[in-house]
Amino acid sequence: MKNDFLSRTLAVINDLSVEEQLFLYNNVRKLKEKVKNKEDILEFQIKSNTGIYIVFLESSTRTKESFINAAKFHKNAKVNIFDSEHSSFNKQESYVDTFNMLTGYSDYSIFVLRTRLEGVCRLLEQKVGDFADRHGIARPAFINGGDGKHEHPTQELLDEYTFLEQNNFDNSHIKIALVGDLLHGRTVHSKADGLKVFKNVEVDLVAPQQLQMPQSYVDKMRRNGFQVRIYNSIDEYLSYGSPASIWYFTRLQLERMGEDVLEKAHILKKAVTFRKDLLDKLPEDVKFYHPLPRPKIEPEIPTFLDNLPLNGWEGQAINGYWVRVVLLSMFGGALRTDFDTTMRREEPTEDFIVPAPIIDGTKGTQKEGKRGIKPIDNGTVIDHIAKGKSTDEIYNTVLKIRRILKLYDVDSTDGIFKSVDGNCKGYISLPDRYLSFKEIKKLSAISPNTTVNIVKNGRVEEKYRINLPPRIYGFDEIRCKNENCITNPVNGEGVNASFVRVDGKFICEYCETPHEYHEIWNI
Ligand code: CP
Repeated sequence: MKNDFLSRTLAVINDLSVEEQLFLYNNVRKLKEKVKNKEDILEFQIKSNTGIYIVFLESSTRTKESFINAAKFHKNAKVNIFDSEHSSFNKQESYVDTFNMLTGYSDYSIFVLRTRLEGVCRLLEQKVGDFADRHGIARPAFINGGDGKHEHPTQELLDEYTFLEQNNFDNSHIKIALVGDLLHGRTVHSKADGLKVFKNVEVDLVAPQQLQMPQSYVDKMRRNGFQVRIYNSIDEYLSYGSPASIWYFTRLQLERMGEDVLEKAHILKKAVTFRKDLLDKLPEDVKFYHPLPRPKIEPEIPTFLDNLPLNGWEGQAINGYWVRVVLLSMFGGALRTDFDTTMRREEPTEDFIVPAPIIDGTKGTQKEGKRGIKPIDNGTVIDHIAKGKSTDEIYNTVLKIRRILKLYDVDSTDGIFKSVDGNCKGYISLPDRYLSFKEIKKLSAISPNTTVNIVKNGRVEEKYRINLPPRIYGFDEIRCKNENCITNPVNGEGVNASFVRVDGKFICEYCETPHEYHEIWNI
């Protein structure tokens, strides 16, 4: 049983369980109380010789400065502010090489990173962890200070802490409005999991359609049991009555917008900018929050609101310091739990290559023996390819299988048949060629619901029905379609992509971009 948070990584909010997040929030509350009462706070300070590296490769004020100050709270830690402008990143050094080297300079390291690329912390957790193992150094901890438009988990921690504070630490229910650029804003994406610290969650999404929350996050919220409602503008939201008493605004992320949306940004912004005439439609106890920065021209929360009691964003930003102090206390080994903190990433065990009954194994007889135009004596027949799809799709799938499995050297036949049920299907017949287990696994990710027949001496000896696998990984030909993903070949990190199936979609295990299975093949 493990009771500490040493060597843990916070790449996404889900890297801390709800129990662990509540442990953090309770300790932030305790620390703030102790400081207010001028009590001893030594228990929160990291004891051992720990290096804390602050590595910001994208601009930041709050996250960077609050982390620098939080790191300095830990007087025994060595605080290093990485100078990215003059580092070997500019000489095309990879992330992995850079962090391997930094890991070698302390007994134990905690890295805080902000990057344009997404999924960097997950990659470093694996690769730099291996480096540490090779050299007998403690595996470092990684903290994501915001990666592209993916996640910003420490912002999520400070947001949830702030909501709990407003609720007098009652986590039975929350009703929250998310307002602004929900498409690009990573802080609102993190809410899909972060709000799970509340037992009953209602989320109102307020944004014009061009800036609405990506469907994958809406689906995730609903999977997590949240009630989700969608509105196009603040006006529309308020016209329905009973608005939330917690409003969370995000700025329009112009730097991440495509040309088409950027052109309309000025008009879209009006739909999510608060106005004086709306004030009397708000609940009395309402608080507004914002991860900040607010744009200086036409902010979503106009400055005339600064002196009103609804101003919650300033206290929220200050909480960023306390939350990060405690997170470092945890990852630096100063705070221990009375529950098990062992990370358990469950490997899916689902069978996706399933033996199917062999009806008749005789060559030349009506069913199992005859496959294709030229029945084979020995080899493999791939059948039921893309059954029920258009003939174009079936033929393209047949070509894709041939290309990916490199079936060039086989004197094979392929074609399209009409099944007895009237649906068309493709087949590939491979004389004297048996597919390896790895090839059958690959086939399941290229063309699910296909049948593989192993023919020996004119009889079908083995027959398998293959379904979509729970994970797709370890193949050179797959790639994440997100150009900002650390695994995308354009970023030159030489990392193999991997995907996990969630509700029929394949989610990149680094940047969490959802894919249809056919989108992951880079051919
Ligand atoms: N909220 C936030 O992440 O702000 P910075 O970009 O200034 O760090």
